[in-house]
Amino acid sequence: MEADRVKWNRRFESEESYLGAHPSPLLAREIARIRSLVPGKRALDIACGEGRNSIFLAQQGFLVKALDISDVALGKAARRAEEAGVLVDFQQVDLDEYRFREQFDLIINFNFLLRELIPAAARALSEGGLLIVDTIMESPELLVSHNPAYLLRRGELRKICEGLEGEVLFYEELAEGDMPTARVLFRKKAAS
Ligand SMILES: C[S@@+](CC[C@H](N)C(=O)[O-])C[C@H]1O[C@@H](n2cnc3c(N)ncnc32)[C@H](O)[C@@H]1O
Repeated sequence: MEADRVKWNRRFESEESYLGAHPSPLLAREIARIRSLVPGKRALDIACGEGRNSIFLAQQGFLVKALDISDVALGKAARRAEEAGVLVDFQQVDLDEYRFREQFDLIINFNFLLRELIPAAARALSEGGLLIVDTIMESPELLVSHNPAYLLRRGELRKICEGLEGEVLFYEELAEGDMPTARVLFRKKAAS
């Protein structure tokens, strides 16, 4: 949606670095397990922002496609990837209208919530492929400042993933602090 592009461009223009250059701590923590489990190297970063996680995955040997609506964020991400000496296929996409047309061995979704995209992403995984979702949950404080449509409810992410064909390898909800989050590492059923 054009309004999302404008809103996020403003945010990325106003801050030198929105979420920093280091990969998400969860991704950094789980990378050895991810590498040991993924059936291949094709990775997708949903709503990649300034590319901190896309670049990290490329440095780990993944062939990364990364999608976002903000051309400002994508411009920064492309510069960062060049500086890091890695190739990432950054594409400007409105995820509200996105349809998966290829398969991935790893899909990551950090700090972005579009509920219908989670089962669609799981369907786009290759057999045995991994999906990581890590995003904000609602809390009384956040509901004052955030649109509830973009906040997970307690237990919601687990419920979504339990309805998918595969296994939840881990699930956690970190309810403390000013940014409660829910996280899942899901593995699509492998061929028997
Ligand atoms: C909080 S940032 C997260 C960035 C990144 N995943 C990270 O953790 O560093 C949310 C991202 O969602 C993107 N976004 C918001 N609405 C979008 C849409 N409709 N289509 C594609 N990207 C969108 C924003 O541009 C922004 O980069």
